[in-house]
Amino acid sequence: MAQKHADLEAQDPTPAQLAEAGRSMHRAARILIVDDEEPVRAMMGATLERQGYDVQYACSGREAIGILERSSFDLVLTDIVMQDGNGIVLLERIHNRQPHLPIVMVTAIHDIGVAIDSMRRGAYDYLLKPFERQHLVTTVERALSHRQAMEQSQNYQESLEHVVQARTEMLRQAMEDLEHSYDVTLEALGDALDLKDSETEGHSKRVTAYTIALSRAMGVDPRKIKIIARGAFLHDIGKMAIPDGILRKPGKLTPDEQEIMREHCGRGYHILRKIPFLAESAEIVLSHQEHHDGSGYPSGLRGNEIPIGARIFAVADALDAITSDRPYREARSFDAAREEILRCSGTQFDPGVVEVFLKIPNELWQELRSEINGQNKRFAAFDFAHSPTPPMP
Ligand SMILES: [Fe+2]
Repeated sequence: MAQKHADLEAQDPTPAQLAEAGRSMHRAARILIVDDEEPVRAMMGATLERQGYDVQYACSGREAIGILERSSFDLVLTDIVMQDGNGIVLLERIHNRQPHLPIVMVTAIHDIGVAIDSMRRGAYDYLLKPFERQHLVTTVERALSHRQAMEQSQNYQESLEHVVQARTEMLRQAMEDLEHSYDVTLEALGDALDLKDSETEGHSKRVTAYTIALSRAMGVDPRKIKIIARGAFLHDIGKMAIPDGILRKPGKLTPDEQEIMREHCGRGYHILRKIPFLAESAEIVLSHQEHHDGSGYPSGLRGNEIPIGARIFAVADALDAITSDRPYREARSFDAAREEILRCSGTQFDPGVVEVFLKIPNELWQELRSEINGQNKRFAAFDFAHSPTPPMP
């Protein structure tokens, strides 16, 4: 019921439309008579003025054009044959500028072919001279009602467009709210993993920022970047299913433990693929440990078999791993990371991604890193379309 009400409100005419409707209801219709014979103009004018119309006169097509430029009319009555040219030319000129202004052609009986032709060119009607005064009045009334109907239909069309516009905006807002609640859900998933594996928090966010920047530099569509970013943010979510004894083990993992650890890709995939807004991102989670040469896991995919988001993520992940402290070694420089990533181009990493990565200066990575380390950046705050990627050198 409330929805129905809103529809009615949205279709109400605007104050400007009401004012215009009011004006046209209270003012006399304005008619322009174009004829080069004074007696004809006078007869037609007198007849129409008696009916209460506001009549103006032009004795030529040229004069009519000038008058029409200065003021507005509801109807034009024009002679077809005039000394300075014919009414058909005038008809076409008026129609080019005011397609909704009705025009009635006035002509002698022997010009009936021309009169009919003028209707094909857009005239509303024609009057054959000599005509009865009543016939003139009826023709004018009919033409004016036609104009009014056209105006009403145009107003209806416009108000319909307003309704569609308002509805589209409401839908956009609803989608935005939904997106926001998606990101809040995503944060909750990330927070859950942090409770179990406290080292991942900064890593997940940095790697998400790096993945977004690299995806943008690769020219990936911003809508797809959002999917990739969600995958990057949750890439290790499957570690929730790994026993603490293995996940937090300070020393080297045994081969069996390593095998269990490797299950985190598939586990993460199965968690996320059931959540509709994360189903596409789940593919990236599944393949984030695949290598370009097929030596990765869990499926040993090669080259383009690996989703592009996962290929981009792999470089971003290595960049963060190399430049972050680990229990067994200190962080290395961004230059060292570049060298290492270049060394593994074509084996671990997609050479196309590495090529784009190498064109991005270290300052960007540094900037993203300090931005994330310096604040508690929430996932919803990532800018998918406008990460600060500097111009390519
Ligand atoms: Fe992982």
